[in-house]
Amino acid sequence: MTAARYSVVMVSAAFILQAAMGANEDQSGGAAAPARGVIRAAFGKTTNGTPVDIYTLTNANGIELRAMTYGGIITSLKVPDRSGHVGDIVLGFDTIDSYLKDPPYFGALIGRYGNRIAKGQFTLGGTPYKLATNNGPNHLHGGVKGFDKVLWNATQAEGAEGVSVTFTRTSPDGEEGYPGNLQVSVRYMLTDKNELAIDYRATTDKATPVNLTQHSYFNLAADSGDILGHELMLNASRYTPVDDTLIPTGELAPVQSTPFDFQTATPVGARIGADNVQLKNGKGYDHNWVLNRTGPGLQRAALVVEPKSGRTLEIVTTEPGIQFYSGNFLDGTITGKGGQVYKHRTGFCLETQHYPDSPNHPNFPSSILQPGQTYASKTVFRFGVQK
Ligand code: GLA
Repeated sequence: MTAARYSVVMVSAAFILQAAMGANEDQSGGAAAPARGVIRAAFGKTTNGTPVDIYTLTNANGIELRAMTYGGIITSLKVPDRSGHVGDIVLGFDTIDSYLKDPPYFGALIGRYGNRIAKGQFTLGGTPYKLATNNGPNHLHGGVKGFDKVLWNATQAEGAEGVSVTFTRTSPDGEEGYPGNLQVSVRYMLTDKNELAIDYRATTDKATPVNLTQHSYFNLAADSGDILGHELMLNASRYTPVDDTLIPTGELAPVQSTPFDFQTATPVGARIGADNVQLKNGKGYDHNWVLNRTGPGLQRAALVVEPKSGRTLEIVTTEPGIQFYSGNFLDGTITGKGGQVYKHRTGFCLETQHYPDSPNHPNFPSSILQPGQTYASKTVFRFGVQK
C-alpha cells in the first residue's frame, strides 16, 4: 500500500519537473510526459561546431537520467527522497559550454585508463609507452583528451528490464599514447528497479591497459551543502596507500583502526580532519579501497545513506576496487546547475575500477586487455530511501 502511494507521489513530482524543464527539448512537439522511455534532443555544439545530443531516460517510476554524447557525461539524475520529493543528486551544468571548459570530470565516462599511471609510463611486452602527464608528474583519467572529452555515437533502447543509451566509439591506436585500436561500448541502463546499471565492453587489436569508470559527483541531499554528513559503508578491509602525488605505494594496507575503516557505516566527515599522512596526501579521501570479493560477478562495494533526505545509494560491481573521492578539490570557483556554487566537498565520487597505476604494479589485478579478449565490467548504482 505504502509502496503504491509512494510511486504515485514520485511520478507526479517527476511530471512537474519534466514539464518545467524538458518541454522545450521534447522533439515530439507535444507536452512532455513522464512516460517510461528515452527522448533524444539537441544539446548545443562542441567548440568545432559538431552537434551534441542529450538523452533523457525515464523509468517506470519516474526516475530520470540525462546523459550526452560529449564525454558520455551524465548531466542529471533525479530521484525522490523519503517524502517523494524529487531532487537532482549529481553535480553538473545547465549548458554544454560549461562542460567544454574542462571541469573536473563532472559526470564523465572515464578512459582509456581511469585514475593515475605514474609518470605516464608503463612497459608492455618489452615495449615502453609514454602517456601525457596531465596531473603533476602523472597521467590521470586517460590524458589531455580522455574519453570524457570526445564525442560518442549513441543508440537508445527500451526493453523489459529498463531503458538505455549505449555509447560507442573506437579509440584509435596511439590515442593519448595508448597502444591498439580499442572498440568501446558503454551502456547506461535505467532499470525499473530504480538502478543505473552500467555495462562496459571493449576489444583491442594490441595489448593495452583498460580501466573504464564513471565520474559522477553525488550529493544525495540534492542541495549545495557539503557531503560530510553522508554515511558511508565500504565493503573493504584494505586500501591502497599512496604517495603525495596519489600513486599507490604497492601496499594493500588494512583499514582497521584508521580513518579509512568504513566497514561499518560512518559519516564521511567523522575522521576526515584526523592527523593522518594518507589524509594529508589525498587532501581528504582520494584513495582506492580493495573490495572484499568472494568470487566473480556483481558484489557489494558501497552503501551511502543521506540521513536528512533519506536517500540511499548502493553500489555493486564486478571490479576489484573503488576510488572514494570526497570532493577535496572543489573550492567554490565552479558555478553549476541553477547557479549553485560547488564549494569544498559538496559532492563525492565512488569510481569502481582496477587499482590506480596497475600497469606498474605486478601484484595488483591486471588491467591489460589482450587481442581476442573482451573487456567486460559492470557496475550498478541502486537508488532507494531509508524511511
Ligand atoms: C579523481 C582523482 C582526484 C581528482 C578528481 C577530479 O577522482 O582521484 O584526485 O583529480 O578525479 O578532480
